[in-house]
Amino acid sequence: MAREFGDLELGYLKRVLDSGVLGWAEGHLVTEFEDAFKEVVGARHAIARNSAMTGLVDAVMLAGAGVADEVICDPLVQFGGIAALANNAVPVFADVRADTYLLDPESVRAAITPRTKAIIVTDLWGLCAELDTLREIADEHGLMLIEDCAHTIYAYYKGRHAGTWGHMGVFSFQQGKHLPTGDGAMLVTDSGDIGPRLRDLQYWGESPKTLMLNHRMNEMTAAVGLGQLQRVRAYVDEYNVNLARWIEEVERVPWLQNRHVPADCVQAGYQFACTFEPEEAPVEHGRFKAICKEAGAPLGFGFTERPAYLYEFFQVPWAYGDCGCPTRCPWYAEKADYEYRRGLCPVAEELLPRIITTGVMQVPPAEMDERIERFREAVRRAEEAA
Ligand SMILES: Cc1ncc(COP(=O)(O)O)c(C=O)c1O
Repeated sequence: MAREFGDLELGYLKRVLDSGVLGWAEGHLVTEFEDAFKEVVGARHAIARNSAMTGLVDAVMLAGAGVADEVICDPLVQFGGIAALANNAVPVFADVRADTYLLDPESVRAAITPRTKAIIVTDLWGLCAELDTLREIADEHGLMLIEDCAHTIYAYYKGRHAGTWGHMGVFSFQQGKHLPTGDGAMLVTDSGDIGPRLRDLQYWGESPKTLMLNHRMNEMTAAVGLGQLQRVRAYVDEYNVNLARWIEEVERVPWLQNRHVPADCVQAGYQFACTFEPEEAPVEHGRFKAICKEAGAPLGFGFTERPAYLYEFFQVPWAYGDCGCPTRCPWYAEKADYEYRRGLCPVAEELLPRIITTGVMQVPPAEMDERIERFREAVRRAEEAA
């Protein structure tokens, strides 16, 4: 089943147009979408945003992180680090586990300093990190745990939906995500303190209660969201079938290692990932990549190749121009001299180039058969080349 946009969405959109209220107003479709979404996730509060990036920026702001503060981030993706920078806080990267590719609680613990205000954990490619341990660490140190749930609608950890372990969770509805509305996002929280404060960041009349930049969702987006929310369970079920097919396939190849899915995790099919194991492989990594290309096997090699902090965006402290903030901010530099250097997260650095990915979303069964056949052919050629 491909994604569907039809009468359901048109019905909601018609309600918006008939009402003449196109922008956020309490009690209209954005509110309905928030109420319906929080039921799905099982959170007490859901507050809509125009993107997950703006949601993450708001979450970091709410965690109280600003000048000379640190936010612990995931090194495999850049979103959390950018949200920290947008608040002029210093992104501090903790390492991941080699088997799940997710934030390692021990590395997080080691990265905490008196300046740390928040931890941003990415539940990458539909799999939740060790959220109970991370929450314990956050609570122990008085930090906020922010879950980046851009990939985790209908993903669960120990029986609870992704996004509900953190103090805040942020879901994305960008075009490539499980629930597409074009752009859009939802912040969720169980906290009776945080919920209303996030709401204050949604709209202001005469003067805002707190610094905010109108990161709210509009009514047309919510209309599409209300329709898609009724379809997304079926999408994820279908993506999970494709994910399971890849896992089964790779299980048979001794020199590829499936990503570890802990027993108490329910993954939401987003992207399949495994690693190339050079010690056991019949050909070297570059040769296998070339063979896959020749055989038409649709695999991605190396994801981003390097962790977030090895990108110039983090290396050169240019977010705020020549002043060098936040890492070279005079309020910060006198207390610490944090460098984004190779070796910061050795597991992520070693792991990233070996990661092999392939899409599982919106791939019909016949296309899956074809892709798997091409993959088998690539494996055959690699083994014959040994
Ligand atoms: C893990 C992750 N976090 C955050 C985002 C940002 O989402 P948005 O485009 O809604 O701002 C994305 C988008 O690709 C993502 O993959």
